[in-house]
Amino acid sequence: MDFKKLDQLKGFMPKDEGLALTGWAEKFTCHGPALEIGTFGAKSALYIATGTSVNNQFVYTVDHHSGSEEHQLGEEYFDSDIYDIKLGRVNTVPLMQENLEKFDESKWVIPIIANANSVAPSWTTELGLLFIDGSHTEISAMNDYDNWNTKIHSQGALVIHDIYEKPDEGGQAPYLIYKRALQEGFKFYDQIDTIVCLIKT
Ligand SMILES: C[S@@+](CC[C@H](N)C(=O)[O-])C[C@H]1O[C@@H](n2cnc3c(N)ncnc32)[C@H](O)[C@@H]1O
Repeated sequence: MDFKKLDQLKGFMPKDEGLALTGWAEKFTCHGPALEIGTFGAKSALYIATGTSVNNQFVYTVDHHSGSEEHQLGEEYFDSDIYDIKLGRVNTVPLMQENLEKFDESKWVIPIIANANSVAPSWTTELGLLFIDGSHTEISAMNDYDNWNTKIHSQGALVIHDIYEKPDEGGQAPYLIYKRALQEGFKFYDQIDTIVCLIKT
């Protein structure tokens, strides 16, 4: 992987956190594939794929590609480059495709264009690693945790992005599911900046 090139992609995964994702994906996907909630432009998916490829495993990455609350017109992270005027909405599919085209590691990435809540009921493959990076509203983060944490292999990992302990540093929803996971038997494994890795015990 050309990490310098990967770091230049549009997305929400800083290099230090992305490299941590690569390492955790390599370590835990010997137990099964990885699944990501929140593809956006596939930047984080490519970091994960770099790790899963070592184990000949895929990363499934789920996104409806309509953007999260903060990406919508008039919101903090609105970006006209990902707004489709014909559709009248955010559409990150073209960005994802353009980014995946640039890297051989994309052969390990399987995009699923869907709402993660709709995919979960029919998902039966045990996951070596689950990465939650979808909508950061409390209800959405709780849904992602509730719908998907049971799909993780008994020795697999749960990775959560954007952990801020204090409300003035950032939204609290990812931190809430992190604390819930700890109460429900997951154990802290590692943290780099705002990305945390827990393991099932
Ligand atoms: C913060 S972005 C993900 C950033 C990406 N992981 C990266 O590293 O660049 C969150 C993404 O979650 C997606 N999303 C929000 N709610 C979702 C849901 N219920 N199911 C699937 N995707 C969802 C949004 O469309 C958005 O692209």
